Amino acid sequence: MTQENQQEIHKGLDGVIADYTAISKVNPESNSLLYRGYPVQQLAQQLSFEEVALLLWNGELPTAAQRDEFTAFERSHRALAQEVKTAIDVLPTDTHPMDVGRTAVSVLGAIHPEAGDTSPEVELRKAKELFAAFPAVVAYDQRRRRGLELVEPREDLDYSQNFLWMTFGEEAAPEVVEAFRVSMVLYAEHSFNASTFTARVVTSTLADLHSAITSAIGALKGPLHGGANEAVMHTFEEIGIDPKESREDAAARSKAWMEQALAEKRKVMGFGHRVYKNGDSRVPTMRGALDSMVAHYGRGEVMGLYDGLEAAMDEAKGIKPNLDYPAGPTYHLMGFDTEMFTPLFIASRITGWSAHVMEQRADNSLIRPLSAYNGPDERSL
Ligand code: SDX
Repeated sequence: MTQENQQEIHKGLDGVIADYTAISKVNPESNSLLYRGYPVQQLAQQLSFEEVALLLWNGELPTAAQRDEFTAFERSHRALAQEVKTAIDVLPTDTHPMDVGRTAVSVLGAIHPEAGDTSPEVELRKAKELFAAFPAVVAYDQRRRRGLELVEPREDLDYSQNFLWMTFGEEAAPEVVEAFRVSMVLYAEHSFNASTFTARVVTSTLADLHSAITSAIGALKGPLHGGANEAVMHTFEEIGIDPKESREDAAARSKAWMEQALAEKRKVMGFGHRVYKNGDSRVPTMRGALDSMVAHYGRGEVMGLYDGLEAAMDEAKGIKPNLDYPAGPTYHLMGFDTEMFTPLFIASRITGWSAHVMEQRADNSLIRPLSAYNGPDERSL
């Protein structure tokens, strides 16, 4: 062992504190999550997603005037840009929606009139523009995959209502809008997760916000991270979803499936977390949103599948669900294609990512860790 290799390697940066952040606090001991000091459960119950976005960006709850100003801005910046639609239209309709989302943000950055301007006021406006513009990308992609036409945004609807309107071409029931809003608040921010840290690494080189968020989308696509909510649904589909099945029978089947999967040493997406070890603080609130969708659509068998998998994983390995686990079936019941689930995560996490981009830039240091060399000793040609 050379001197270098005797240093401790922190693979995956597990347990490494890379920097300060004032944006959110993930607390595995108390199983809690604070956005700018406020418990996420309170925010999910009491604030709109638009207000949570302003809290994450500005550090304080918005005044009524700030809220109204942002609402007017957001509602007037929702339309799908022609350049983005053209770029999406050259992609095959079965292109993975995460690739469509990544392409859309890249195009928005490429055509931005202030692309090279990374000043705080311009970056905050870019964040607000992306917040407003991304739902149309997700909605358009789901519709074109089904051979449906683009649905134009409506300025009389709030963010969540309009997102569902553009996707399904009809006004969603209040319960569905509420469950969707809760999911957006819960997905918004989670300290130095892989995609957020990616955004900070890119920002630390002084690259622009769109480059940072395009890179973050690449990181989020992986099934060990954001792609897990899509993978959860593939698990449910592999077990089989039968609306005529009783909740009890579904639970029995999914329990047996999990026992078999674990016996085969499979990693089951939607469970476990790098930071939370006694359960993800967001799950109870997201589970409540799932419960409301199961009741609204009368789909008790989905809850059965959910409960059976959770019980079997807990019994076998004591591993708890993460946010992606209840989020996947919730989006499925709302009618989103499974491949659209992680783009929904993008729509929400644009808020956290952009807040971290601005925080990194405000007190920057190039992120460049060391490595311990374990290749061949020096030798001559
Ligand atoms: C998100 O970081 C964030 O904050 C992310 C996120 C956010 O808001 O940004 O919270 C969103 O990404 C949530 C996580 C979504 N990912 C998944 O659901 C993928 C499945 N989960 C695992 O891959 C895993 O739990 C990780 C990647 C999330 C965390 O992995 P760690 O901390 O590196 O732990 P590990 O993979 O080394 O697992 C420790 C042990 C292992 O057992 P042994 O091999 O030591 O016997 O637990 C087992 C693992 O096999 N294990 C699992 C498991 N998760 C851990 N076994 C089966 N299925 C799983 N899901």
